[in-house]
Amino acid sequence: MDLDALIDAVNNGQRQNRSDLETFVAKVADGSVSTEDATRWLRAVHQHGCEVDDIVVLTNAMIDSGARLTWPEGPPVVDKHSTGGVGDKMSLMLAPALAAAGCRVPMLAGRGLGHTGGTIDKLEAIPGFNCALSPEEMMDAVKEVGCCIAVQNEAIAPADGVLYALRDVTHTIDSVPLITASIVSKKAAEGLDALVLDVKTGSAAFMQTVEDARTLANSMVKTAEGLGIRTMAQITSMSEPIGTHIGNALEVLGSILVLKGQGSPDTRELVVMQGAALLSMTFDNVDTEEGRRRMEKVLNNGEALEVFRKMCVQQGVSKEVAATLINTPEKVLGTAAEQTTALAQNDGFVAGYDAMKMAQLARRHGAGRFALEDEIDPLIGFLLDATRGVEVKKNEPLFTFFHTRELSSDDLHELKSIATISENKPGRSPRLVELIDSTETKA
Ligand code: URA
Repeated sequence: MDLDALIDAVNNGQRQNRSDLETFVAKVADGSVSTEDATRWLRAVHQHGCEVDDIVVLTNAMIDSGARLTWPEGPPVVDKHSTGGVGDKMSLMLAPALAAAGCRVPMLAGRGLGHTGGTIDKLEAIPGFNCALSPEEMMDAVKEVGCCIAVQNEAIAPADGVLYALRDVTHTIDSVPLITASIVSKKAAEGLDALVLDVKTGSAAFMQTVEDARTLANSMVKTAEGLGIRTMAQITSMSEPIGTHIGNALEVLGSILVLKGQGSPDTRELVVMQGAALLSMTFDNVDTEEGRRRMEKVLNNGEALEVFRKMCVQQGVSKEVAATLINTPEKVLGTAAEQTTALAQNDGFVAGYDAMKMAQLARRHGAGRFALEDEIDPLIGFLLDATRGVEVKKNEPLFTFFHTRELSSDDLHELKSIATISENKPGRSPRLVELIDSTETKA
């Protein structure tokens, strides 16, 4: 393997030698490439990018560095990836709802990253919930229940584990080819037929402009399609938090409400939209409208909730706790010792909530990590009383912050600046900004 030739090709905007690139990735995974050499290659790709065909080779090699789930003939195998948001609890509802709608969903998920929450941290707010599943346990769970949600682990795409940790310390995270290969390799290793990508854009997203979100979405769609996975990207707005519940335990609570056919319409709409995309990509005679109907049906008739309960039990929660969780979630999840409610400072309409400010305040109070070893407090978070567009009178409650530590004067100042009240009702602001679907065929 000629690493210098690989790096020269990247620097000169040429294709990298396929077998050299494959060998490089295999050697990264087995630890026989030095940190300095791996960093030289990462820096070159970070600086110059690389072609889609090379990203496909890279992604395939990353998949081959670990286990690949394989599935017997049967219902479509599907999943979703989100680039991360505030209040983004979709996976908790989407996996069971899609299983209830007839799919197999072997979902791999991550922990919170920066200011954004992670599906695994949310599930671990449920006492007993075990996300550390081996590939065999994932396949068993899907056979039994229809879905599972497991934490990304060493067994799947280990080359990504090495490169991701190195990217973190060499400031080479924000590279479209590297993000693409990292995300798509883990999803492809699940053996998917179809994938929906929720690419966030806005002030609380990693890709703040629509142009940047579109570039990443196109790269991931082309790469996943290049690997034979039917893929669609939904670019969605992430300046406002999603729904009414924000914070690990509170998001479990908010998800259970949606699984009961209630809850925040904003949250429900995203679940229905993502699920409908996957159903329309995989089932014959199902278009987006029919996909939406099927998603709404399983949310309204309790079937998705029942799969969620079974998934909890399959992944270690006792039957008693799972039953109580469904009926009276607060009893299982608990609630933070301190609650501070922000009041409207004048009459008007709620014009918006600053999701980034909310995430940063909650993170400082223990909802997220600053270092890998930080313990999170699942009870920290926000509950919105008045959502965007709602008319409020002075001193009416806007939202409550759940915390355990006392609030400083800076925190109180920050709390007051989270919501904006305007004289006029704000216009509608749909979550979906753009759809990227290159083929419109079935998986
Ligand atoms: N999530 C991943 O898994 N990889 C990246 O590179 C970025 C986000």
